[in-house]
Amino acid sequence: MIEKLTVRDILRLKKEGRRIVMITAYDYAFARLVDQAGVDIVLVGDSASMVVMGYSDTRFVTLEEMITFCKSVSRGVKRALVVGDMPFMSFQVSKEEAVRNAGRMVKEGMVDAVKLEGGKEYAGVVRAIVNAGIPVMGHIGLTPQSAATSTGFRLSAKDAEAAVKIVEDAKALEEAGAFAIVAEFMTSEVAAHISQELEIPVIGIGSGPGCDGQVLVLYDLIGLSEFSPPFSKKYVDLASMVRDAVTAYRNEVLEGKFPGEDHTKHMKKEEYVEFLARVRGAK
Ligand code: KIV
Repeated sequence: MIEKLTVRDILRLKKEGRRIVMITAYDYAFARLVDQAGVDIVLVGDSASMVVMGYSDTRFVTLEEMITFCKSVSRGVKRALVVGDMPFMSFQVSKEEAVRNAGRMVKEGMVDAVKLEGGKEYAGVVRAIVNAGIPVMGHIGLTPQSAATSTGFRLSAKDAEAAVKIVEDAKALEEAGAFAIVAEFMTSEVAAHISQELEIPVIGIGSGPGCDGQVLVLYDLIGLSEFSPPFSKKYVDLASMVRDAVTAYRNEVLEGKFPGEDHTKHMKKEEYVEFLARVRGAK
């Protein structure tokens, strides 16, 4: 029997100094595979908006769609903690709406925790969701939901003033009850600093090696993303492998090679003879 990780286990990993491994997934098939590979946290990221749905950025995936992705992933994961990303405008309107929508992610999407983007301005929302009994992961630095419209996709915490603000954001989220924080595309000095300062784990993406853990978008890692950020690493080129496999299938169908004898089932000879007699007799 595989034991499911809890938020407490994730906090323990930081105390033990063991790096935390997080990756995104959006469906049952890949969720099973990443879980079997032994990651600690599976994030159903709103990056689904781009990598699964083909939108230009993360703002367009809806709460309903995220809940569907979460359901599929939750069914595929036996061990890792499953975190569902709260999509754009699902937590910004009011604390009440944020709590209601986080509740839907848990009750309908069956996730263990939710993640939301934003610093100290969202500390009240984080506290309200945590008070409702739902663990929350924060997300600071480059926050793609606002980057698309206001801040742009750029490295954060480049100067001292911006760095101090990031530290304040991280501390405010910890005080509000967040159990972990994603630190996206910030200078490595600042990411390492907040990792040391906070008791909760800081999971970096594009923020250097000094974080308590790392997260990557699965489709960047396996080569299925159309566009990947410069800080991600492609471990396998699955796109080429899939294209080659489908091309081989297409060619075999066109040439009449597939299906061959190995993939074909026959009637017993006497049944076939009987069958022909019947259809001919029916004419
Ligand atoms: O949506 C996502 O995939 C994310 C990761 C980049 C952390 O938020």
